Amino acid sequence: MKRLLSSPPLLDIIQSAAEPIITIDEHQRIVMFNAAAERAFLYSAEQAIGADLDTLIPARFRVAHTEPASHVEDPGISSRQAGLGIPLRGLRSNGEEFPVEASTAQIRTKTGVFLSIFLRDVTERRRVDQALRASRDGLTRLSNALLHVREQEKRHIAQELHDDLGQTLTALTMELSHLEADLSPDDANLRAHVRAMRRLIKETFASLRRIASDLRPVMLDDLGLAAAVEWLVANFVSIYGIDTEARIEIGEEEPCRPVATTLFRIVQEALTNIVKHARASKVSLRLCRTESQFELTIQDNGVGAAPERLAKKPPLSLGLQAMRERVQLLDGDIAISTREKGGFRLDAHIPVQPPESPWEAS
Ligand SMILES: Nc1ncnc2c1ncn2[C@@H]1O[C@H](COP(=O)(O)OP(=O)(O)OP(=O)(O)O)[C@@H](O)[C@H]1O
Ligand SMILES: [Mg+2]
Repeated sequence: MKRLLSSPPLLDIIQSAAEPIITIDEHQRIVMFNAAAERAFLYSAEQAIGADLDTLIPARFRVAHTEPASHVEDPGISSRQAGLGIPLRGLRSNGEEFPVEASTAQIRTKTGVFLSIFLRDVTERRRVDQALRASRDGLTRLSNALLHVREQEKRHIAQELHDDLGQTLTALTMELSHLEADLSPDDANLRAHVRAMRRLIKETFASLRRIASDLRPVMLDDLGLAAAVEWLVANFVSIYGIDTEARIEIGEEEPCRPVATTLFRIVQEALTNIVKHARASKVSLRLCRTESQFELTIQDNGVGAAPERLAKKPPLSLGLQAMRERVQLLDGDIAISTREKGGFRLDAHIPVQPPESPWEAS
């Protein structure tokens, strides 16, 4: 060991290493300070050697940094005691602090026990981390904004359908009434046509209402989440005749709007998926509220899905992905359990109090 340490090439290597390397003795005195350490701490080796390690450490961290030295005094410690990647802060001679990571190695020689500290200046990595975090925050905000715009857009289309097409259909009904009034009572053929037209207008009205309420959960606005979910289930049962058991226990207090809209949209998409994919004969839905969260489970006894089918990416499959995004924005979680021929189960948990300023589902 001694032969290696005193060998000049090794010292040269240490001197030319790109990262700062500092060696201290058992009294925490610096005995070796390589060129990279000079550049990082802005001390010359001459100034540093003989100084206390504390010189290189901000005052508030000094106690923590004395620990490696105490290891030096511990005779039981291995000769390669490495504290890999310990996050620390260094102090330059101009008073500036910088983030570093340290690993250490202990060396026993005849002249004493030494601790070498290998440092890595992580200023740049921290900067990149921060930039990444900022860009992730930006993406979350963008996601929020997109959801907001999507909900507003749906609301706008629903309004247009109601106001514009709805008015036109009403006008058409009135025109038909005028026409009918002018028809001779004997003109059975024309009267039959008018009746057929009335029936078509009535059906168009019904479709219009259904499309508009799918786009914008009017029930949700008017009657609240529990009634709106009950309405979705009742509609589902009456149209598709699938035996459905629903248990909704969320108390009197209405959830905040983003939570209510998210839960409503999950139920809507899950029921649509059951119709589209499940071939189920039984469905159960449970929506409960605990002290801290809403719990939603929707389960069917249909054909289920193999994992690769779930992995289909947008734009092929948007439904489950959109659910996940909505739930994540509210700091909730969603889990799917299914297998081929084994039914499909979806569990979502959403905090009663979601994070500040989530998207506003208006
Ligand atoms: N209840 C279910 N039973 C069986 N398979 C399901 C069920 N729900 C979803 N799946 C499977 O998961 C896949 C992804 O569902 P997702 O809702 O994301 O997309 P999609 O319904 O195919 O299309 P989109 O929702 O975009 O109109 C479906 O294609 C289907 O294979
Ligand atoms: Mg779907």
